[in-house]
Amino acid sequence: MRIVFIGPPGAGKGTQAEKIIAKYRPAHLSTGDMLRAARDAKSEIGLQAEKFMAAGQLVPDEVIVGVIEHRLQEPDCQAGYLLDGFPRTIAQAEALDRMLTAKGTPLNVVLELRVPDEELYRRLAGRGRADDQPEVIRERLVAYNNQTSPLLQYYAKQNLLATIDGLGTVDEIFARIEQVLDSVQ
Ligand code: AP5
Ligand code: MG
Repeated sequence: MRIVFIGPPGAGKGTQAEKIIAKYRPAHLSTGDMLRAARDAKSEIGLQAEKFMAAGQLVPDEVIVGVIEHRLQEPDCQAGYLLDGFPRTIAQAEALDRMLTAKGTPLNVVLELRVPDEELYRRLAGRGRADDQPEVIRERLVAYNNQTSPLLQYYAKQNLLATIDGLGTVDEIFARIEQVLDSVQ
């Protein structure tokens, strides 16, 4: 299965991704994790991405599209993958569509995890990643609302969007996701 996960910072994408991977076995492609690893390794991409991430802004499309294009060629992606945090702009979604059309491997479903802002702040306050200070969270939310939320309509038009209520326990939310994934397999 080829799945895209969309949701604001702190919605629980990473948390639910772990459970999806354990049950359905797609490759897990988290662009946030990839960029943090690149930053820590001080690679060229990491150095380019660092200041955007620290400010809560999106890294430039061309940087991340190149990373994904390479990653999708790897053997573990051929049986399916979960894109966690990509695409995040219309330009990224269009680039992904071009790659998938060229390979003849369309997406199966786009999962939106919907969580109110107050709950996002509460969850991220309890985590403490470098970009989890309130002013950076605010910027990440602005980026989500301005640049990423237009993707919801983009994928609704392609009949791929499934919106999941992201409030509740981790297991309750996963049960909602299972219902959707079991219906598209
Ligand atoms: P990224 O790493 O993708 O961060 P994000 O989207 O801000 O989301 P998070 O990882 O913070 O939240 P999550 O939804 O995964 O929630 P989690 O499961 O951790 O991106 C970071 C940065 O990288 C971006 O700002 C940007 O600069 C750059 N970047 C990445 N991709 C890019 C792209 N495509 N284009 C451009 N730039 C890009 O959960 C959060 C907390 O809540 C945890 O503590 C968890 O334990 C808790 N929690 C989870 N579920 C529940 C629950 N049900 N109840 C209570 N608590 C819960
Ligand atoms: Mg995450």
